[in-house]
Amino acid sequence: MKKYRIGWAVVVATALLIIVVILFLVEAFSFDQGAVGIEPLSASAYRQRVDALLANANPADAEAAIQKYGCPACHRQGAANGIAPSWVGVAERAATRRPPMPADAYLYESIIHPEAFLVDGYPNSMVPNFGTRISDQELGDIIAYLLTADAQ
Ligand code: HEC
Repeated sequence: MKKYRIGWAVVVATALLIIVVILFLVEAFSFDQGAVGIEPLSASAYRQRVDALLANANPADAEAAIQKYGCPACHRQGAANGIAPSWVGVAERAATRRPPMPADAYLYESIIHPEAFLVDGYPNSMVPNFGTRISDQELGDIIAYLLTADAQ
């Protein structure tokens, strides 16, 4: 009798473990699909990359990089003429552009893979090769700046 009881306990525990593993895999898989669509990086890979960039970032240092790469021509001077979306209030919009993608990951993607998602009403005219030109420090500083309410 004792043997039987232990046997059932093992069967139940194993079944529960299998269910938990299946639920975990389904959850992880569906989040990746929804978050990054056509992008090659998974959502968790984005997460790690963006966390690493933001860990040493300082929004106060961003202006130099923003000038260096010519962002204002489109995003400040050009914004009034519809060349590119203004950065005023961008942090709030970034949080809702690609649900469930959080604002920081969306901003990262917008700069490194601008073709992945186009803001409604704008062409795919953003410089495509920032990913190979902007250093990690500059990129972190820019993302941190765009996440502040001071972005303009
Ligand atoms: C040649 C013009 C041009 C330049 C230069 C440019 N961008 Fe853009 N950018 C665009 C356009 C057009 C869009 C909208 C289309 C899209 O979503 O890619 C955009 C979109 C964005 C977005 C998404 C904005 C939103 O409201 O969702 C971010 C963030 C961004 N750019 C950051 C940058 C940064 C940082 C730089 C400089 C390192 C830069 N851009 C340089 C044209 C430009």
